[in-house]
Amino acid sequence: MSKQAAAFVTVGIDGGAASGKSSTSRRLAARYGLLHVDTGSHYRALSAGLLAAGVSPADTGEVADYVEGIYLETEIVDGSAQILVDGTRYGEEAIRSDAVNASVSRFAAMPTVRQALRQYQRDQVKLARETLFNGLIMEGRDIGSVILPDANLLFFLEADEATRAQRRAAEGQTDAIAERDKIDASRKTAPLTCPPRAERINTGSLSLEEVVAHIGSRIEELGLSPSEEESA
Ligand code: CDP
Repeated sequence: MSKQAAAFVTVGIDGGAASGKSSTSRRLAARYGLLHVDTGSHYRALSAGLLAAGVSPADTGEVADYVEGIYLETEIVDGSAQILVDGTRYGEEAIRSDAVNASVSRFAAMPTVRQALRQYQRDQVKLARETLFNGLIMEGRDIGSVILPDANLLFFLEADEATRAQRRAAEGQTDAIAERDKIDASRKTAPLTCPPRAERINTGSLSLEEVVAHIGSRIEELGLSPSEEESA
């Protein structure tokens, strides 16, 4: 972890499934010493917890009961904030399972579920300061619209559906991204949308490094420098 710099930069990255948010955010987090927060993993962990408790997205009342008394904590692993739900950290395999892929957007459309995560997600900024990161990069669907509308920088990543499906398949995953996007964009609470202040980037025609370099140049305008090992 890098020493606290004079500048503290907050960056929000929104976009649909497999739009390139995670790889871009991780790379930038490492390069500029930012705490990486993947809010999709929060919804996925809650979904894994709900499914493990035998609650399905059809059981609205039970979902509300489950999230009401929930206790959320954070563990920082390799510069990335990991959520603990009632003391349990759900691993990558659990949160990216077919069952979670199939139900996460339905759970995430519920106001009770979003409400349960809202303050927790906002508190990650404080955590990043307290743990001496140079800032935070948070990815999701509603960072610019709901969670951190005042972030220093906001971006909205997009790519055509074929490119996104190809990326997911290359990760070895079966994931109905079009279906999830439809639910995410049409839900009433915090739908997926490009916030007015955000800069749109089409990642379909750009390499990962090009996207990272572009956002990186904006971060540098705000006073942060790339870390030596990353910029070498
Ligand atoms: O990685 P991918 O883009 O496929 O999805 P994700 O970021 O892991 O998010 C999984 C699901 O969580 C999304 O399809 C949304 O339903 C939900 N989500 C959300 O509603 N709001 C967020 N800020 C992040 C994720």
